[in-house]
Amino acid sequence: MAAYEYETHDYDVVVVGAGGAGLRATLGMAEQGLRTACVTKVFPTRSHTVAAQGGIAASLSNMGPDNWQWHLYDTIKGSDWLGDTDAMEYLTREAPKAVYELEHYGVPFSRTEEGKIYQRPFGGHTTEFGDGPPVQRTCAAADRTGHAILHTLYGQSLKNNAEFYVEYFAIDLIMSEDGVCQGVVCWKLDDGTMHVFNAKTVVLATGGYGRAFFSCTSAHTCTGDGGGMVTRAGLPMQDMEFVQFHPTGIYGAGCLITEGARGEGGYLTNSEGERFMERYAPQYKDLAPRDYVSRSITMEIREGRGVGELGDHIHLNLSHLPPEALAERLPGISESARIFAGVDVNKEPIPVLPTVHYNMGGIPTNYWGEVLNPTADDQNAVVPGLMAVGEAGCASVHGANRLGSNSLIDLVVFGRAAAIRAGKVVDPEAPNPVLNQPSIDKAFDRFDGLRNAKGGIPTAELRLEMQRTMQSDAAVFRTDESLKEGVEKMTAIAAKLGDLAVTDRSLVWNSDLMETLELTNLMPNALATITGAEARKESRGAHASEDFPERDDENWRVHTISRVEGNKVDLSYRPVIVDPLTTEAEGGIALAKIAPKARNF
Ligand code: FUM
Repeated sequence: MAAYEYETHDYDVVVVGAGGAGLRATLGMAEQGLRTACVTKVFPTRSHTVAAQGGIAASLSNMGPDNWQWHLYDTIKGSDWLGDTDAMEYLTREAPKAVYELEHYGVPFSRTEEGKIYQRPFGGHTTEFGDGPPVQRTCAAADRTGHAILHTLYGQSLKNNAEFYVEYFAIDLIMSEDGVCQGVVCWKLDDGTMHVFNAKTVVLATGGYGRAFFSCTSAHTCTGDGGGMVTRAGLPMQDMEFVQFHPTGIYGAGCLITEGARGEGGYLTNSEGERFMERYAPQYKDLAPRDYVSRSITMEIREGRGVGELGDHIHLNLSHLPPEALAERLPGISESARIFAGVDVNKEPIPVLPTVHYNMGGIPTNYWGEVLNPTADDQNAVVPGLMAVGEAGCASVHGANRLGSNSLIDLVVFGRAAAIRAGKVVDPEAPNPVLNQPSIDKAFDRFDGLRNAKGGIPTAELRLEMQRTMQSDAAVFRTDESLKEGVEKMTAIAAKLGDLAVTDRSLVWNSDLMETLELTNLMPNALATITGAEARKESRGAHASEDFPERDDENWRVHTISRVEGNKVDLSYRPVIVDPLTTEAEGGIALAKIAPKARNF
């Protein structure tokens, strides 16, 4: 057994991760007087939410008629009828409240002439239950909305006495013998000390796993750490096959050009200068949802109408927009285009390509953020002491495809919901749990094994193998053949985790070891993704199968539950929650409105 000395810290709540969801949960917990720690591997304002550009969806009606029922309908249709309706209703109903709270906390939103929060159009957000024109629903702080939210929430959390443990890497969850989460074991990166956090509730807000792919808009820190920890605790993941490609990553660099660029009037063209989205989505054109636009771009390229020397990307045009509008509404992407594509957006189009952007799947939760461990007897069984929010979680409000700007609202609505729930279930007067020592020892043993790994494959090499395989075999369009081959390759790649070579054995700022721990988190996420995709014999949202091009509601309107052990994935299925929280008679939505139908734009 590995012998590491450690310091123990007792809290009511420990939040792991300091992005938008983690900070909103931390703030909500601390505001209620719960002793709250936020443990994060990067400084809070460097979390990936800082990169969120275009905005946060809420039916404020500042720019024209809107209501939460339209937002709910768009979210259901956007999800291709795979989202859980209760959670989607909670999201869209609470969204305006959550945005006004942000405003009162101090988020510097862009403003209309009358001083209201400025809202822009985004893909898939419409009026009249999908029959009317696009709606301006996405609240924006220029094109740096995530940045503005993150700084505000961090300041407010400090003001409310939340305690931050910065540059602490979470190794594993501490689980009791009977399945209660009791805390988390961490490694402090800058001095090599070890820390055990004892908590009555742990909230995983660790973000997505975009870095399982070769080209993504996600930060290098997006390594699915929550999914890795949950998997090792014997708990499942949900709907992992649904990976969103953002239509406009900068060609080559992969960094994001916000959908807000099209919201402000930008449009896509092919090598013939044609605005091709008019053919694929006659009603909403460039403002169709992301899965639609990404597939359309891919088809244009495949059919020989891509731009550039290799004909392998497409153009995003902004130069027709007034320079002052670009400077005021899209300053960040104007700068990114200059730095990463060498393009002056006032004069030239930006070369773009669909790029991995978001994971719809994650740790299954109910709409309070409580983690689920579905069993045959109880599909909604809750794991005591464990919550997951933000991209790490799967409530599931995005189903098979997320609408742009529904991510930031997911972060704050469910970060807030987790805090509301914790206020009810966490007793600040109760003693902290007696920690299960074997669970702590197991975490240190795993850490020590990796620290001293003397195998034949450097971490970076194995990571690249995984990233290339995922990129080519779990792409925008998938075939049975590519997926089968992908599962075989990923099974073999995951087996090589046992043959890793770590060369740096120190404990202080050992990036070799940290990246190795991250790779052990990425791997189960990647395996569950490709295995779930191979098994799903239909097309739905971001999962576009060339062999099964139709959506099959009879057999496949179900959530995929994946349990990963080593390089094996066990799949089962769980029903989608189809009932809303309230019906039309109660001020909610008419059931006939949300019944599945063809998804055209
Ligand atoms: O395009 C964007 O600004 C990204 C927003 C989102 O993913 O919600």
